[in-house]
Amino acid sequence: MIRQAADYMLGAQSVCVSSGAGMSAESGVPTFRDDSGHWSKFNPAELATPEAFARNPRKVWAWYRERRRALASIEPHAGHRILAEWESRVPEMVVVTQNVDGLHHAAGSKNVIELHGRLDVARCTACDYAIQGLDDLGPDPRCPECEQRLRPGVVWFGEMLPPGATEAAFAAARKCDVLLVIGTSGVVQPAASLAEVAKTAGARLIEINPTPTPISAYADVCLRSGCRDALTAIDRAWREMGS
Ligand code: OAD
Repeated sequence: MIRQAADYMLGAQSVCVSSGAGMSAESGVPTFRDDSGHWSKFNPAELATPEAFARNPRKVWAWYRERRRALASIEPHAGHRILAEWESRVPEMVVVTQNVDGLHHAAGSKNVIELHGRLDVARCTACDYAIQGLDDLGPDPRCPECEQRLRPGVVWFGEMLPPGATEAAFAAARKCDVLLVIGTSGVVQPAASLAEVAKTAGARLIEINPTPTPISAYADVCLRSGCRDALTAIDRAWREMGS
């Protein structure tokens, strides 16, 4: 299985990665739908929708403040770094992520499409003001330019994705020779459809996930382990084959 995955990488001119919360799990960021994930403890309708924020902004901010505080001491792991290194080994490499933690960037990946925004950004609900950083902004922060409420710079359920992100992600999926689907349950759209689009366009699909997902059914290779081990093993096998 590892050799097969490495063989696909060896011949690839264009590689797309679709990563989800499992990619960050080994850095200590909780996932959403695992037994200990966020959605086993909290109701997404109360924390991750525009309606929830309109109803109770302090409650929503309290959850994001805690996640921002935790993120300040979190670092990318070897798997993130391997993906960043692959940018110099593959002619075209794009990481499409549902993660809001910025760990792909922190590891050195440059070509990253962040479908769900970023935890370290807060933006104004009324004007174009946005601020990046993990400083605690307080229980109900206001815009310094127009005094209106600031909100977390993430995408909530029912909202549009950042302009251009969906188009760029699907263009990468259609163009790639290999799509690596890493650490996502494959149930949140539109990210979940990247795999089908890539497969239909002729790409090889490698899934890295300890647990089967709806994507497993049409993956060419399913690696049932954590992403750090799987990526390390692919990287090693690929190097042994030569590049
Ligand atoms: P989920 O929490 O739904 O799924 C995480 C996946 O990672 C599961 O399939 C796990 O089996 C897998 N996993 C766990 N540990 C892993 C590891 N060490 N290596 C590889 N895989 C591992 O997270 P996502 O699919 O990313 O959206 O969720 C997508 C979206 O749902 C999130 O961006 C968020 C959430 O609601 C919004 O809040 C809008």
